[in-house]
Amino acid sequence: MRAFVTRDLPGRGIDRLRNQPGIDLDLWQRDFPPPRNTVLEHVVGADGLLCLITDTIDAELLDHAGPKLKVVSQMAVGVDNIDVAACAARGISVGNTPGVLTETTADLAFALLLASARRVVEAANYVRLGQWRTWSPTMLAGTEVNGATLGIVGFGAIGQAVAHRATGFGLRTLYWSRRQKPVVAARLQADYRDLPDLLAQSDFVSVHAALTAETRHLIDAAALAHMPAHAILINTARGPLVDEEALTDALRNGRIAAAGLDVTETEPIAPDSPLLSMPNVIVLPHIGSASLATRTKMADLAVDNLLAGLAGQTLPHQVPLPTETNA
Ligand code: NAP
Ligand code: GLV
Repeated sequence: MRAFVTRDLPGRGIDRLRNQPGIDLDLWQRDFPPPRNTVLEHVVGADGLLCLITDTIDAELLDHAGPKLKVVSQMAVGVDNIDVAACAARGISVGNTPGVLTETTADLAFALLLASARRVVEAANYVRLGQWRTWSPTMLAGTEVNGATLGIVGFGAIGQAVAHRATGFGLRTLYWSRRQKPVVAARLQADYRDLPDLLAQSDFVSVHAALTAETRHLIDAAALAHMPAHAILINTARGPLVDEEALTDALRNGRIAAAGLDVTETEPIAPDSPLLSMPNVIVLPHIGSASLATRTKMADLAVDNLLAGLAGQTLPHQVPLPTETNA
């Protein structure tokens, strides 16, 4: 059986695949993703595919792969780059890596919240550029975190882990999700609000919903207009959840105060994006889960899913069809 793996992985996953009897490993070892045409060539006749968020797994690719493809295993929890319905229609299992990255990604969301509130990047640059002359009462004064209200948009694993952190920082937490989750919300001292109310009542808004057709541009111009002018938006989920043009406009015109973004609508962000020249915006290169320990666990899970799929078994972490999650 042939497995195409679209990037080298941390940990022992690649060795496990190499040492697995009956598996012919086809590994793309460069630092950049394989070009689309290369992926299309390599998937022909493959039994399994291990991919990253930088690969687009659509019907065209699945048709190229042909009927032997049994499993698509993604080294990430978000699977918006994969046409899960097209996989299901062809009997292909889709795997992802939930859980192991929850705390690491919540840490980064909180790092962005604190850094945006307290202007940490701006202040570090101020020193680095030799602008620090004295101490003054309002120099680089930011937003108070203790006692502020945090609105969490998407109360899944990471949203809840952020709420857990918020309790330790004296924040009051509101959440919005497709469904209310009263039991976990009570434990995390989070109160449900509908989205416009959450946006209007929050000093910080942190986005954690999955990217789907329904959540694309969930935070658009109308949503941003609900937020108070001192509010700060954090996004560590997926760039297209936020309408970046509307966000740029809101920041430029002082309709919100700042933004901390680990994800952007186009990745990498265009070097001439106006967001990059705004001192009140922090943009990171999609590093939410980027501790070596977590990335190794993700790689291991992705290999577990691949091996299970190749063996015709249920995947340890099988992505349900979108309709099943809506139930
Ligand atoms: P999760 O536990 O599955 O939570 C997903 C959240 O998305 C849930 O709150 C869910 O709502 C919501 N959601 C799903 N479909 C929706 C829809 N159609 N409309 C409204 N809400 C919807 O996943 P997670 O582990 O917390 O991860 C969340 C997202 O973070 C991932 O999908 C991924 O895109 C992103 N992520 C980014 C990084 C990074 O490096 N920056 C790292 C990890 C994850 P319900 O609660 O109502 O089901
Ligand atoms: C990373 O973005 C993930 O979805 O795991």
